[in-house]
Amino acid sequence: MSQTATLEVKTAAELAQQPEEYQTAVRKIVISHAVNELYGAQVFDEPAIQLAPTPYAKWLTCRVAMEEYHHHVRFRALADEIGVPAEMRDPTKKKPLSIFQFQLKTWPEFCVIKAIADYAEILQVEDLLHCSFHPLRTLARITMPEEKFHAKFGKDFCLELIQAGRGAEVQDAIDRYFPITPAFFGASQSKNNEIYRKWSLKQRTNDEMRADFLGRVTELVEKDFGLKLPKV
Ligand SMILES: [Fe+2]
Ligand SMILES: [Fe+2]
Repeated sequence: MSQTATLEVKTAAELAQQPEEYQTAVRKIVISHAVNELYGAQVFDEPAIQLAPTPYAKWLTCRVAMEEYHHHVRFRALADEIGVPAEMRDPTKKKPLSIFQFQLKTWPEFCVIKAIADYAEILQVEDLLHCSFHPLRTLARITMPEEKFHAKFGKDFCLELIQAGRGAEVQDAIDRYFPITPAFFGASQSKNNEIYRKWSLKQRTNDEMRADFLGRVTELVEKDFGLKLPKV
């Protein structure tokens, strides 16, 4: 077992005692979550309330948007606690991830985004469940059931559309959205990921997570939806 495998950093004060490489790695993870939870809520979840077709769908979409904003609020509070400068967790200054570079226009698109992108988010959060920095571990444990709800929300509403004879719209949204998702997991030879694993902040390589994601999305789209996953 490597020396860092048993590393446990329980508080922000303890973080300040760690090597610079560890502190920088923790900050990068916290910043990424703070920025992307906010940006996703702004470009997808909040606008989707208008697109939701029924009062019931609007209510559930409000809940999703509320939870995504809350994820940002929690990660932002942690960012502040560990001394991240405000401009570093501002999506207008720090570039959000490519999965958000999609012009959301329709309800089926939103359902596909939740079913696919929030599953990708589940994998990321899952990887933090045993993180050596305890405040991140705690946040992962709190947000996990909510991310699972978002992915299930997407799946259930996609199935509802398919059963209502609107499978072609779901397929069209998958064809246009899915190809941008594998890049979400980062480069194969990522230096950051190597450092995260070295310090037990994360457990898996980007390629391991991507392979897990592709397997799960293939099952969702081809088995559960009876549709086709485009080749990427
Ligand atoms: Fe989230
Ligand atoms: Fe989510």
